[in-house]
Amino acid sequence: MLSKSLNKALNQQVQLEFESSNVYLAMASWAEQEGYEGIASFMYLQSDEERMHMLKIFKYINERGGNAEVPALSKVPHTYKSVIDMFTSVLKHEVHVSSEINKLVDICLKEKDYATHNMLQWYVAEQMEEERVARTLLDKLKLIGTDKSGVYMFDRDLLSIRSEAGNEKEA
Ligand code: FEO
Repeated sequence: MLSKSLNKALNQQVQLEFESSNVYLAMASWAEQEGYEGIASFMYLQSDEERMHMLKIFKYINERGGNAEVPALSKVPHTYKSVIDMFTSVLKHEVHVSSEINKLVDICLKEKDYATHNMLQWYVAEQMEEERVARTLLDKLKLIGTDKSGVYMFDRDLLSIRSEAGNEKEA
C-alpha cells in the first residue's frame, strides 16, 4: 500500500509527465507551422512517449492501492524564437524532470518503499537517455549556429531518425 505522501508525490509526477507531453505537443505545432517537418515529427513522438511515462505512474498508483488523479494542467509555451531556443528549453525541461524523479527516489528510500523505488529505476535510466539526446541535439545546433542550410539538414536528419524509431516501435 502506498503511503499518503508517496501517493501525493507520484500524482505530482503524473502532472509533470502530462505537462511534458503537452510541452512537446506545442513544440510539434510550432515546428510544423514553421515548416520543420523532421523536428515536428520528433516532437510528436516525444509527446506520445511522455504520455506513456505519465500512464505508467498513473497505473502504478492504483495497482498499489492508491488514488491516481487526472491533474489540472497549466498552459504551455506555444512560440519560440528559433530552433535552438526550443531545444534549449527541451534540455532545461528534461533536467528539471530528472531532478523531480531524484526527489521521488529520495522519498522512497526514506520511507523504505522498495517497490516504488524499483519502479522508479526505469525513470532514472530513461531520464539519463532523454538528457543525453537533448544535449546531443543542442550541441549540433550550436555548431550549426545561424547557417540556414545547416538547420535544414538538421531537420532532415531528425525526420529519418524518428521514422526509424517509429518503425522499430511498430515492429
Ligand atoms: Fe518523462 Fe521526458 O520526462
